[in-house]
Amino acid sequence: MVADTSEVGAVAESAVWELLRSNPEAVLGVATGSTPGPLYQALASRGKKFPTVQAFALDEYCGIDASDPNSYRSTLLREFARPLGIPAEHVHVPSTSNDCKDNAADYESSISEAGGIAVQILGVGTNGHIAFNEPGSSFESRTRVVELTERTRRDNSRYFPSISDVPRSALTQGIGTILEARKLVVMAFGVGKAAAVAAALEGPVTTDVPASAIQTHPDVIVCLDLAAASSLTRSHR
Ligand code: F6R
Repeated sequence: MVADTSEVGAVAESAVWELLRSNPEAVLGVATGSTPGPLYQALASRGKKFPTVQAFALDEYCGIDASDPNSYRSTLLREFARPLGIPAEHVHVPSTSNDCKDNAADYESSISEAGGIAVQILGVGTNGHIAFNEPGSSFESRTRVVELTERTRRDNSRYFPSISDVPRSALTQGIGTILEARKLVVMAFGVGKAAAVAAALEGPVTTDVPASAIQTHPDVIVCLDLAAASSLTRSHR
């Protein structure tokens, strides 16, 4: 736990840097949204390029074109791949063509063929979701199409002209898929995440709080600012 977002980003970045330094062909799992920005910026500030890294997105909206600036493909290319010198063809995002149908199994296969994800970067939704696994998602769930909750659509409406423009569904890695990553780096900022963070780390392991699934993973780093950590009651090392 540290005070400001750039410090949290630097702590999270050190785990990713460790991996990329030792394996320039590493396979990273990457989150979108506002949370991973400080990590990506800290990595970019090293001034090193990573032309052989492969990256797999957690999720993608259904119903918006991949070229739309709000698609997760566009966001990852802009905020992650270009600053780090990762070629666009190394950035894998679930394909939402054909109305999102039939693409989930292919995405799972491409993760396996790449050798699995070494480090998965995760944010947490205000409702405790990870990727777009909303409350109630099975811990065994695999990549699939999901309906977004109104809360998630409202939270993400800040990126869109209005809430009615926020997609209603997405293709997301399942919780079972995410838990297969060899290491998880979980980040959260701000008081709006405090309740979800406390439930995820100190509450019961329950599908009501998808992020509580991280308690079952053997290798997790959680990087929080003080506001996101403010509802924790135990000391965490
Ligand atoms: C994004 C993702 C989501 C976000 C979460 C937090 O790829 O999978 O789970 O990590 O919604 O979003 P932000 O970071 O915007 O608060």
